[in-house]
Amino acid sequence: MPALVLAYSGGLDTTTAITWLTKERGYDVIALNVDVGMSREQDVLEERGLAAGAARVIVVDAREEFLRHFAFPALAAGAVYQDAYPLATALARPLMARLLVDAAREEGAVAVAHGCTGKGNDQVRFDVGIRTLDPALAIVAPAREQAMSREAEIDYLREHGVAIAWETKGSFSIDENIWGRSVEAGALEDPWAEPPPSAFAWTRAPADAPADGVELTISFERGAPVAIDGEALAPVAIVERLNELGGEHGVGRVDHIEDRLVGIKSREIYEAPAAVALHAAHRALETMTLSRSQLRLKRQLAAEYAELIYDGLWFSAHHQDIAAYMASTQRHVSGETRLRLRQGAVTVTGRRAAASLYDRALATYDREDAFDQSSATGFIDIWGLQTRVQARRQLLDQMPGALHIASPAGAIGEGSP
Ligand code: ARG
Repeated sequence: MPALVLAYSGGLDTTTAITWLTKERGYDVIALNVDVGMSREQDVLEERGLAAGAARVIVVDAREEFLRHFAFPALAAGAVYQDAYPLATALARPLMARLLVDAAREEGAVAVAHGCTGKGNDQVRFDVGIRTLDPALAIVAPAREQAMSREAEIDYLREHGVAIAWETKGSFSIDENIWGRSVEAGALEDPWAEPPPSAFAWTRAPADAPADGVELTISFERGAPVAIDGEALAPVAIVERLNELGGEHGVGRVDHIEDRLVGIKSREIYEAPAAVALHAAHRALETMTLSRSQLRLKRQLAAEYAELIYDGLWFSAHHQDIAAYMASTQRHVSGETRLRLRQGAVTVTGRRAAASLYDRALATYDREDAFDQSSATGFIDIWGLQTRVQARRQLLDQMPGALHIASPAGAIGEGSP
């Protein structure tokens, strides 16, 4: 039988896919589990895969690579989709696509498969990644070809003699990795309804978190986090510790109406304590070390970067170009940010950097002031020159008083009771 490599999570959907790909499509299924952290099924995964008929189950610990080459570059870039989603799921897909392709080549497989449905972004990320890296591989997506309900999947497995005790689980669709937890569907489909407590697994409700909060210092080197409270830590340890600490203090909950690439608006809940805290800390350090123009352009490109990650275009020249700019901006982003995590809030309480652009002698209102205030009037004269000329020639003469309101269309809120 021809071999196929399946991206395997150990959950019901991809376990069913093993049996389906074997029985209905005649493949020898090699189940590849890419461990990007936080998987709940890790311990039973191999057993389940084999029970469902996999020829082999391979587990790859990709956590460090995921953080170093996917999550941390996105952090340094400030890539947050629609100002809300730190992109945990989206960042893991291109890594999984690459590892699928690598495994397919090693195993001499003719096809790869994933468990995505036909309504989401993940199918796009997998398919675009795989087809870009190896156009010769066929892609099979069982859940897209033949959607089955949870009950139907359990029945199907039972019919084929696969006896696995599936814990009853809620109606949420969940994807987790070390950078964050994504939750959709079920009770969340009503955008007016507050997410039920059962939607959350990593974070305490902010109101139940300790009133005192906690303070910590995060060190960065060239834009990447390297230590907590002065203790040098590897990427996985840093993110795990911040997930735990942040979760305890209710940090990192996001409730977002998100625009999927396929045009659907979707209600998404995220829990990403480490990502949210690290983005805040990193941004604070950049305010010290980047100029105003660098901050401005970088912010614009960050939105573009977030979108290309979200849209599944990781393996593109556009990405390489933006990544090169982002890496260049980080060469002086080394230093420390002090954060307070308290009842859901992340507050920056201090920042310092060796290459800081903050100059106290310039900023101070004390006697040590080094800023020459007399040069300000000449600067203002030239700065406002065009605005003054235009007002005199075009605005004041024709419509006296017109400058009192900014917009000829009237003020926002005008006319409401
Ligand atoms: N909306 C997010 C994204 O597109 C999360 C998707 C999560 N997937 C899932 N199976 N629940 O990246």
